[in-house]
Amino acid sequence: LFSAITMAPRDPILGITEGFNADQNPAKVNLGVGVYYDDNGKVPLLECVKKAEAILMEKFAPRTYLPIEGLAAYDKAVQELVFGADSAVVQEKRAITAQAIGGTGALKLGADFLKRFAPDAQVWISDPSWENHRALFESAGFTVNNYPYYDASTRGVNFSGMLNALNTMPAGSIVLLHACCHNPTGADLTDDQWTQVIAVVTTRGLVPFLDMAYQGFGDGIEADGKVVRRFAEAGGALFVSNSFSKSFSLYGERVGALSIAASSAEEAARIMSQLKRVIRTNYSNPPIHGGQVVATVLSTPELRQLWEEELAGMRIRIREMRAAFVSKLKEKAPAHNFDFVTQQRGMFSYSGLTKEQVEKLRDNNSIYAVDTGRICVAALNKRNIDVVIDAITAVL
Ligand code: LMR
Repeated sequence: LFSAITMAPRDPILGITEGFNADQNPAKVNLGVGVYYDDNGKVPLLECVKKAEAILMEKFAPRTYLPIEGLAAYDKAVQELVFGADSAVVQEKRAITAQAIGGTGALKLGADFLKRFAPDAQVWISDPSWENHRALFESAGFTVNNYPYYDASTRGVNFSGMLNALNTMPAGSIVLLHACCHNPTGADLTDDQWTQVIAVVTTRGLVPFLDMAYQGFGDGIEADGKVVRRFAEAGGALFVSNSFSKSFSLYGERVGALSIAASSAEEAARIMSQLKRVIRTNYSNPPIHGGQVVATVLSTPELRQLWEEELAGMRIRIREMRAAFVSKLKEKAPAHNFDFVTQQRGMFSYSGLTKEQVEKLRDNNSIYAVDTGRICVAALNKRNIDVVIDAITAVL
């Protein structure tokens, strides 16, 4: 059985962390994975999380199984965060939300659910997209295609190409869209462009699947969540995966959710009954701790306020790093224009570095980035930025 098994390639993102962890150079820098580090180079444990954990610790609650769809308080709080407590879809009980094992788990639940009920549909992801999108939908049994998205010449979105592709997809096609902070490019659509996308998706009967892994890292929680609400208002089937890995710095707790908006409460109940079968046959029911922490923070006004402040702090620090990155490169490598880095949103910069340059950064300086040139700006800090700038200058 095992003799015929060949070695699989390393994961394009998490494989970089494996290489980084094995690197003995004390000056190494990991700009590969999408993780926020503070100015001391540490993954923060948010104060709101510490306070919620202190509340939970005092209860010494038993660890029984959660319901298949997760902690009710968590699902409710997440649904209200995603769609808005006063939105029609929530008020009319047309939405369902199930706790998931991170954003990736939410995508996989959605993919498995869709494969059961739309087995012949094809999936369309942006070119480029998060590396795992293709692998994940293919592993659920779908054919995955690309729609045009990034235009390297303008460092922005090839919007006419994207719209054209949406206009020619067969009805029922599943379209994966990044709700905010596009991963890997950092290039988002404008409000006006979203209006056009929502119109095409709705009138042509496409199935939107919004991936919202970076809410709060663009312009703020409300602003970044706006697209999801606009899709929900437009009606029609809607899938939303969201994650608290980054926004709560709870990576290892694996806290995310899948929400689905339907056209009636009765339809929503049927959807939930089937989604529970998908969950039960995957991992039975989700873990308790991370969900309890997030539910406690979101439903306790002082903690929620603290969370919003802490998230704003992360967002602002990333912006400062973008500005410092651009100004330092202007000084060290004046022949190259990196101004676009301050326009990009979220944790990443699609830097334009080639695969060869990324390899040189790794081999010569132990600076790790994704082969596509994606770098995690949220991993830069006042101590490592000069080393990174000098190394980039050398490979340019
Ligand atoms: C990333 O894009 O680096 C993150 O979403 C982490 C991951 O799971 O790939």
